[in-house]
Amino acid sequence: MTTYLTESEEETQAVAGRLAAQLKPGDVILLSGELGAGKTAFVRGLATGLGIDPEVVSSPTFTLVHEYRGGRLTFYHADLYRLEKAATDDLGLEEMGVADGVLAVEWPDRLTHRFPAALTVNIDIVNDTTRRIQLVAGSR
Ligand SMILES: Nc1ncnc2c1ncn2[C@@H]1O[C@H](COP(=O)(O)OP(=O)(O)OP(=O)(O)O)[C@@H](O)[C@H]1O
Ligand SMILES: [Mg+2]
Repeated sequence: MTTYLTESEEETQAVAGRLAAQLKPGDVILLSGELGAGKTAFVRGLATGLGIDPEVVSSPTFTLVHEYRGGRLTFYHADLYRLEKAATDDLGLEEMGVADGVLAVEWPDRLTHRFPAALTVNIDIVNDTTRRIQLVAGSR
């Protein structure tokens, strides 16, 4: 387990950007943390590190899964906040974190499919600008 304390959104993105450099096809990243913790900020950093414009990464919309191409690896970003647990079965997420892709999931507690080899990122709000980010190998 690795722990970081970041003092700004940019620092959080930088942590994610360094992680992105190590990602391989098939990697899955599960992002936990309360509303506004910085999960999407982390995802923007992953995108940047993969060579994808972070501006295209959106905060929650009604699209559950976004696919970004043009970077070093295809990048899938799922935000499951609005979903009931059972509704995640039909998204096909299990197929996304494979082959050419990397999959990042916000609100992974909604998942029914397990990703035992995933990297878990837990983000805690310490105060307005400080976040504690823990990278843990494995999911639960
Ligand atoms: N150290 C920090 N790291 C990341 N974000 C920070 C930090 N300090 C302040 N922030 C702010 O916290 C907010 C994080 O928002 P973000 O959308 O990334 O959260 P989220 O976890 O994806 O929330 P949601 O559950 O609503 O999807 C932003 O407004 C960002 O500017
Ligand atoms: Mg978010």
